[in-house]
Amino acid sequence: MNGEVRHAHAIYPGSFDPPTNGHLDVIARAAMIFPALTVAVVVNPQKRDPFFTLDEREEMLRRCTSQYSNVHVGHFRGLLADFVRRLDADVIVKGLRVVSDFESEMAFAHMNRALTNVDTMFLMADSAYSFVSSSLIKEVFLQGGDVSKYVPQVVLEFMESKRRLQGRN
Ligand code: PNS
Repeated sequence: MNGEVRHAHAIYPGSFDPPTNGHLDVIARAAMIFPALTVAVVVNPQKRDPFFTLDEREEMLRRCTSQYSNVHVGHFRGLLADFVRRLDADVIVKGLRVVSDFESEMAFAHMNRALTNVDTMFLMADSAYSFVSSSLIKEVFLQGGDVSKYVPQVVLEFMESKRRLQGRN
């Protein structure tokens, strides 16, 4: 870095299957801190049966972040570190909900720094969303529970239309 101050480009990676109000809260706060923020959807071959396709996840994120001129949505395959290098990004942003999140995130942060020399900065998700995760939202929704407080309206509409298409309702 040679003491050079950069106008930081941050990357906020995740599965976003689907994006929740917790994710949107982190995006809103990161967008106020960093001049450029790329929200990066991972194409994760290990997660065999995602609820939403990559295109749908990107589209939901685009619609939910359209008010921020400095936020862009993209995706990556493989290592986050390679994507960070490709974009010449300066920092990785992650949200922490509960202390136990930190356990695995600390290892990821060390590994990503070792691979790229790029640091990870953590924002604490608003306590209102400390129990909100994409997997819990899907589980509750698919069994008929009301998740409208935990996802943006546009995401709820995508979820309802997906459920109709899958004939689950
Ligand atoms: O929303 P998630 O599923 O908690 O996000 C996890 C994510 C995408 C940040 C993490 O799985 C990731 O970085 N995957 C890319 C593969 C990779 O780089 N693995 C090594 C991490 S040090």
